[in-house]
Amino acid sequence: MSDDLEARQRRHVLYTWSAQDRAAPLPIARGEGAWFIDHAGERWLDFESQVFNVNAGHGDRRIVDAIKRQADELACAHPAAVFEAKAALGEALARVTPPGIDRFFLCLSGAEANENAFKIARLVTGRAKVVARRRSYHGATMGALSLTGDHRRPPLEPGLWGVLRAEDPYCYRCPFGLEPTSCGVRCASHLETLLELEDPSTVAAIFLEGVTGANGGFVPPPEYWPMVRAICDRHGILLVADEVFSGFGRTGRWFAVDHWGVVPDMITMAKGLTSGYAPLGAVGLRASIAARFDDETLWCGLTSYAHPISCAAALATIGVYEQDRLIEHAAGLDPVLGEGLERLKARHGIVGDARSIGLFGTLELVLDRETKTPIVPYGKSATPGSVGHRVKQALRARRVHAALNGNFLFVAPPLCISAEDLREGLARIDDALTEATAGGAT
Ligand SMILES: Cc1ncc(COP(=O)(O)O)c(C=O)c1O
Repeated sequence: MSDDLEARQRRHVLYTWSAQDRAAPLPIARGEGAWFIDHAGERWLDFESQVFNVNAGHGDRRIVDAIKRQADELACAHPAAVFEAKAALGEALARVTPPGIDRFFLCLSGAEANENAFKIARLVTGRAKVVARRRSYHGATMGALSLTGDHRRPPLEPGLWGVLRAEDPYCYRCPFGLEPTSCGVRCASHLETLLELEDPSTVAAIFLEGVTGANGGFVPPPEYWPMVRAICDRHGILLVADEVFSGFGRTGRWFAVDHWGVVPDMITMAKGLTSGYAPLGAVGLRASIAARFDDETLWCGLTSYAHPISCAAALATIGVYEQDRLIEHAAGLDPVLGEGLERLKARHGIVGDARSIGLFGTLELVLDRETKTPIVPYGKSATPGSVGHRVKQALRARRVHAALNGNFLFVAPPLCISAEDLREGLARIDDALTEATAGGAT
């Protein structure tokens, strides 16, 4: 990437989630499968999938051609427009989402999907409050940010009223101080107490990420989702699965909730829905919820609702997942990733915990395994000279693009990655951790 290009861009276009002077530009020029190529022609292994997005892989001609065909035929349309890609996308989504989810509200992002699920929950139940977890991210718009539990919310407070906080299934640092073998899945059962204290008849919905994404890759115990489903049913509360991150094969199933056979009342999605080839989000609704709006107004909408190019991109992306059996492929690589992360934990004292599901892996980095001291305080980023900063630099030097968010080093490549490339990337992480901790993990 030429300095001139970056300077021109920086002059007028802001970077996200960062002080502008500390932003880290990504030198991507084009991509192929699990790799991208920078402006100097160097190949990088994409272990972050461009913000956990490009599940189908970079540069897929089938998706690009579908977008081109749609642009030639119909590039913009009224929200009420009727066209083939929109109808076919609805059918495809009904096929791949959990049984019983069969109508879809379309929008442009994960945040908007959660905004709309929030509104629909209020409209359907006539209740105002919702529950969401502490270490969660649901998007950057005001409603989605109000649901969000993590450090990105406080700078924008006050947000929406009535969001109650539940604890996370964070077994490595159990919020109740319990051992996973004897905890009784308190992270789920405490919801009942929370609701009783709050009056469950005032609560519209519980929002949960299928598997917690950017806040640490928490894979819940198998009992967790069924227990929460039962609690929601007891109190007439809607269960919303935010599968923006964990959906479309990331965990080795179409949606994370499929692992536990739970059907939520609503499921929100984006990212892997189009693999990032065009912006699109969606809320999937159970038929009984959607039926409410057969004769009542659905007070939701946007100008670019069901944008033709996004519909075509999503339809082609789902086609790629199916044709190439990418979801099954991701499930097949689960042991390769899991064992690879365990090996890294065995070799590096800085790795406090390794956890993974499908093609979503997390290494939790610590200064000291005994005390589990995080490498940076909660919500902070690595500062120059710190071990986190050295890990980032060592990864970049080895041309691995991976997210180190606070203490969490994520491995989330496109689902089309080969076992060989996955092992290659893990070997590069191994080298990077060795280099970064050569002088100690401080
Ligand atoms: C679980 C989850 N929900 C919602 C969002 C927001 O999606 P978007 O950035 O498309 O608005 C994200 C984004 O990372 C996410 O990880």
